[in-house]
Formats: sequence, structure tokens, C-alpha cells
Amino acid sequence: MRKTQPLQALKSSNQNQAENDGPFYPHSSALAEEKTLQASFVRDEDERPKVAYNQFSNEIPVISIAGIDDGGEKRAEICNKIVEACEEWGVFQIVDHGVDTKLVSEMTTLAKEFFALPPEEKLRFDMSGGKKGGFIVSSHLQGEAVQDWREIVTFFSYPIRTRDYSRWPDKPEAWKAVTEEYSKKLMELACKLLGVLSEAMGLETEALTKACVDMDQKVVVNFYPKCPQPDLTLGLKRHTDPGTITLLLQDTVGGLQATRDNGKTWITVQPVEGAFVVNLGDHGHYLSNGRFRNADHQAVVNSNSSRLSIATFQNPAPDATVYPLKIREGEKSVLDEPITFAEMYRRKMSKDIEIATKKKLAKEQLLRDLETAKLETKPIEEILA
Ligand code: OGA
Ligand code: NI
Repeated sequence: MRKTQPLQALKSSNQNQAENDGPFYPHSSALAEEKTLQASFVRDEDERPKVAYNQFSNEIPVISIAGIDDGGEKRAEICNKIVEACEEWGVFQIVDHGVDTKLVSEMTTLAKEFFALPPEEKLRFDMSGGKKGGFIVSSHLQGEAVQDWREIVTFFSYPIRTRDYSRWPDKPEAWKAVTEEYSKKLMELACKLLGVLSEAMGLETEALTKACVDMDQKVVVNFYPKCPQPDLTLGLKRHTDPGTITLLLQDTVGGLQATRDNGKTWITVQPVEGAFVVNLGDHGHYLSNGRFRNADHQAVVNSNSSRLSIATFQNPAPDATVYPLKIREGEKSVLDEPITFAEMYRRKMSKDIEIATKKKLAKEQLLRDLETAKLETKPIEEILA
């Protein structure tokens, strides 16, 4: 049974995929020992990292939210900073957020312990094949040609009534309880931030939360193993998060990058211990009629150390309506018509696939053109030979 094999052994069987009928696990932390990258991880040149994982920028504001609940001038001051960051980048970092330091460090320690478990333990929660939650050696988009250099564990944490604990790892032992507490605290924090953005739009504090109907939350723990050739690949390819808002906890290694000129230039977000990086998603972008940017970001990897990040995605319910809550004077709606979040997501995915397909076709055409050009420069005797 290949599920009980260590990932190191899976690696050798991957070399002859034709013999395998089970799931395909393209790499593991064990593979970090390899000197070269398997072809399935090599990105096209235009997608490869442009800036080093540890060349940090301080362009993304780090905002203390101490006193945000006190009202008055203090709140107004904090809110202004948040709103400005959302208009410029769709990304900011928050400190003094009130989530217990001990809870945060337990969450990361337990996550690291999970990824260090033997493969057969991790694969007990294998979610390849469409299961909702668990472990996977992942690609960003299922079925995509080039793979991301990461492993993930996903917990579908809200709405609570839909939680399926059979998909939550039961090792390390304390992880389930700690994750429950963590997801609750992050739900509260996210709603607080949505309150700020709602007020900035001139709406009641609950407007964005209400627009999510019954808010969904998904916690994704990303583990990026050391990588032999980090310049050729990505830990997580460029994307925007589909939901309303994402709170990302990262360690001090570095690797999260953002762009606001459509990928021409990138910055690496400076890791700040204990901070949450807040990314606005597509839903937040549409509801603000484009006033708040959806963060355009990716994660790069490195050959010196592995990296851990925990992303908490706050999403609207699948049938929640996506349409600007407020259209300012003189503006046009960024959406032609109200759609459901499920439909918004479907369109996003099909657009991604369309872009990927076009790129693949263009590449194939280029190869054919090169072949033809080669033939054309050859003497006829050689072509016929
Ligand atoms: C994500 C994400 C970035 C990171 O999980 O959507 O953007 O640095 N992660 O892990
Ligand atoms: Ni993301």
C-alpha cells in the first residue's frame, strides 16, 4: 500500500508514474535534500521570483490596533491608517491585536509538529480527491501544470454546524482544541476589521459582516520545505484571495510578496513577530466597488530554511450576494449585476484556467515556429535525409 510508504519512497515511484494508480505526491520535505528541482515545479521565466525571499521592504504599514475599541479619536486614527493601506495595497500588518501570544505560539508549534510527523500519519488526513479538509502536497489550482512547493493542512472551521471533525488532524493531540480557540479568536478579529472598513464606506459597522450572511472561515496551514532551486519555482503562485479578508500569521523567515503593478515589481513583506498580515480579497474588493484593492500576492521559497504560515480566510456564504454595497457619486459599478459568491468563484477559476491554457498554447506555437525556422535554414538535402 503506497499510503503507508514514506514520502522518500513515494518519490522513487513517482519517477515511473505509469506504474502508479494511486495519488501522486510530487515532493516532500525529504526531497529538500535533492540538488535539482523536479520538472513539475519549474515555472515559466515570467513567473519566477524577481526579488529575494529575505530582501524585506517596509512599504506595507504595520498598524497597532491597541485602543481600536475605545472609540473617539484613537479609533479614528487607527481606522484612517487601515483604510489608506486598503486603498493603496489591500495589505497591511496589525500588532497589539489582542490575540493571546500563547495561543499563537501553540498554534505554530503544533503545526510544525504535524508536518514533522511520518508521512503515513499525515496521509491519514489525505484530502486529494476532493475531500473537505485535511492534508495535501499541493498545487494552487487542482490540475494545474506547474506545482507549488508546499504542503498544506486545511480546517473548515465556520460555520460551526458544518464542521467535520473527522477531517481535522487528531495529532498532535492538542491541535484540535487549540485550532478551535484560534479560529474563534480570528473570526472576532476579522469582524472587527470589517467593522472598520464598513464605517469607512459610510455604512453601519456590521454592513460587511452582514453581507457575508453566515460567514465561512477556512484555516490553511502552509508548510514550505527548503527548496534546492528556489529561483525556478514558487511556494504559492501569484493570486488574489477570493474571499472578504484573510489574516496571515507567518514566521520570521520571509517569503510573502506583493505587487501592485500587475506583477512588474514585487516587494517582500517584512516579517513582524506576532503580527497578522491582513489581505483584502476579491469579495472585499467588489463590495467596496474597487475602492479597496484585492491584494495581489505570492509566496517564494528558499534553500536555507523551511517556512510556516497560517492563513485564515474569511469568506461569505456561497449563496451570499456579491455586489458593491456603496457606489460613490460619479462612479460606475465594478460588477454588471449581482451574482452569488459561488458564481464569483466559478468565474475566477474559469478565468485562471483560460489564462493558463492560452499561455500553454502560445508556448507550443513558439516551439513549432522555432522548429519551422530551423527547417527553413537547413539545406534541402539535410531535411530529406
Ligand atoms: C495564501 C497565501 C502566503 C504565504 O495561503 O493564500 O497567500 O506567505 N499565503 O504563505
Ligand atoms: Ni493568498
